[in-house]
Amino acid sequence: MQPFEPQQLPIDGIQWDSLIPLIGKANRSLAYYDGILYGLANPDVLLSPLTTQEAVLSSKIEGTQATLGEVLKFEAGEAPVEESRVRDIEEIMNYRRAMRRAEEELKTHPFSLNLLKELHAVLLDGVRGKFKARGQFRTTQNWIGTSGLPIEAAQFVPPAPQNIMPHLDNWEKYYHFDRPDPLVQLAIIHAQFEMIHPFLDGNGRLGRMIVPLFLFERKLISSPVFYISAYLERYREEYVAGLQGLSEKTPTAWTRWIGFFLRAMDEQSRENARKAQAIIDLYGRLKGRIIDLTHSRYAVPLLDCLFDQPVFTSSLFDDRPGMPGKPMIMNMLGRLKKAGILKVVREGSGRRPQILALAELINVCEGSDII
Ligand SMILES: Nc1ncnc2c1ncn2[C@@H]1O[C@H](COP(=O)(O)OP(=O)(O)O)[C@@H](O)[C@H]1O
Ligand SMILES: [Mg+2]
Repeated sequence: MQPFEPQQLPIDGIQWDSLIPLIGKANRSLAYYDGILYGLANPDVLLSPLTTQEAVLSSKIEGTQATLGEVLKFEAGEAPVEESRVRDIEEIMNYRRAMRRAEEELKTHPFSLNLLKELHAVLLDGVRGKFKARGQFRTTQNWIGTSGLPIEAAQFVPPAPQNIMPHLDNWEKYYHFDRPDPLVQLAIIHAQFEMIHPFLDGNGRLGRMIVPLFLFERKLISSPVFYISAYLERYREEYVAGLQGLSEKTPTAWTRWIGFFLRAMDEQSRENARKAQAIIDLYGRLKGRIIDLTHSRYAVPLLDCLFDQPVFTSSLFDDRPGMPGKPMIMNMLGRLKKAGILKVVREGSGRRPQILALAELINVCEGSDII
């Protein structure tokens, strides 16, 4: 099978007629979501569990099995039984770190290929990344197909390594174009990135990470938090088939792909808005209740800590500035437990501390009652 040579960007011949209603819809939903985001004093903290959930789902598209609950429990010190699950969780935590690193960088610098390499290095930091040219564009041929089968049986063979740089240069220029339809541009940016497949591994996850970064840089959202992966995971087959179809290099295939992507943007904008609103409501509700329960000036700082790390042991508060001493913390946590706000995830025994969870927050993020 010959390596695929992607087309030069921009793409000509897109059938706009069929896309126009979708473009309008997706833009309206995104603007509605941004309205909610814009009103948030601290979206990073408040939406932190959604960021973790995005990392979980984006990784799940590639086959990792770990769940949001497992990641959060791991952070609180509960190790899973299987070693492979620990590796999954490590990569999910790397994913989240990479997203945060990108957010920081974009506040002062435009997106660049160098940033992309840096993010790759963060994503594949750890055991599994060892043999995957971490932080480097690949210098060998790779392919997509059933694991263990040779290149002859590949589903898709990306460009030869010596052709990667010219394609990436064209891609980076296109990324910074000021196109009138940024969501269509983003659909093309994601797909073209997957077709260039510049890294040995991690291309899917990095390509999905680009979505919020691009939206933020183009000022379509006021902070770089947007979660796309739930839709791509739910419609994984259609997602992959859409990308695969682009190998034909036809306007029809591109139009179909862009349509799929716009539907994903529309649906996820509405889903993100719904979840962000539910989280804001929960925060407001809990704030009132915790003040009532504790009569403490530490009530709100405590609540902020719980949103930042909703599964925890009491040592979470040891190194947080502005928190009171241990006895008062234990007293407050006790009251929240009694009121049913905090649930016990693991009982303490011997030197193993008790693990608690702000269950309602996790359930809102997950969309079902998992704790
Ligand atoms: N036929 C295809 N053509 C182009 N890209 C594809 C195709 N099939 C899958 N992909 C993309 O490749 C990604 C997998 O590549 P990989 O480097 O293993 O990324 P990761 O390690 O993040 O999973 C998928 O998530 C998808 O985005
Ligand atoms: Mg992979």
